[in-house]
Amino acid sequence: MRILYYPPVPSHRPEGTMRCGAHTDYGTITLLLQDSLGGLEIEKAFSSTGKFFELPLAVKEKYDRLDGQGYLAVDRQKLGGDSKKHELRESFDVEFCFNRYPDEEIPDFGASVVHVMTALDELSDKLILALQSALGVENNFLVKAHSRKREPTGNHTLMRILYYPPVPSHRPEGTMRCGAHTDYGTITLLLQDSLGGLEVKTRSGAWVPVPPLEGAVLVNVADLLQRWTNNQLIATEHRVMVPATEHLQKLPRRSIAYFVHPDDDVMVEPLDGKGSLPPVNAEDWLNKRYKETYQY
Ligand SMILES: [Fe+2]
Repeated sequence: MRILYYPPVPSHRPEGTMRCGAHTDYGTITLLLQDSLGGLEIEKAFSSTGKFFELPLAVKEKYDRLDGQGYLAVDRQKLGGDSKKHELRESFDVEFCFNRYPDEEIPDFGASVVHVMTALDELSDKLILALQSALGVENNFLVKAHSRKREPTGNHTLMRILYYPPVPSHRPEGTMRCGAHTDYGTITLLLQDSLGGLEVKTRSGAWVPVPPLEGAVLVNVADLLQRWTNNQLIATEHRVMVPATEHLQKLPRRSIAYFVHPDDDVMVEPLDGKGSLPPVNAEDWLNKRYKETYQY
């Protein structure tokens, strides 16, 4: 495991200054530290955004997922691809244009969510710029390909507030908190609490835990960045297991993911112009992957 910290980039810097090179040596996961979030405190982000999940189910369902945003109850999305296996996870998905916040039940909830999302989005801008530089991409192409992240249409970048409820001691075999999958877009920024459970698959096929590290932001390579880099950067396969001990099973787990997607009309193909991967449209790719995982 390599822990990396990217300091702020000075405005006057030598040409070709990079923040990262391609991570082909070990997995594809990077940890940035707390102060890359511009003052956002991760624990506060969990407490302010997590209040929603304490509401009664009937209230939460008033904010059910609509047009790709809102509340998702347990088992609504099977990321592991097996519709028969339980995935004990709830989430609340928002884009910058979201306008159905439960502010009636939780005053200032919307403002808190936008505050967290803005910090993650600003960090994602820096990472895209760093990637563009490290990969030698010309004409500001990668930055331009994500230019509509905050606009109401034309880009499906999404923040997902996740809540993993306590796991019942009697549960069907194979129950997970989150089935194995890769994310769909360019990169994912992930904040996780101190409970653990996240695992990533290494190049050799072994699953290894990603233990919580206080103040860390994880960055996963997702499907379309793998495609852009012609399989140089591999999308990180990951999952969240039920904890081994009964004590930990009784505790809820929290995380926040920021899924960075290219603009809908971007055609994604290897940036080096080589290889045999055909171009895919960013929005078509996302819709295809959603169709594979949502239960209804
Ligand atoms: Fe994921």
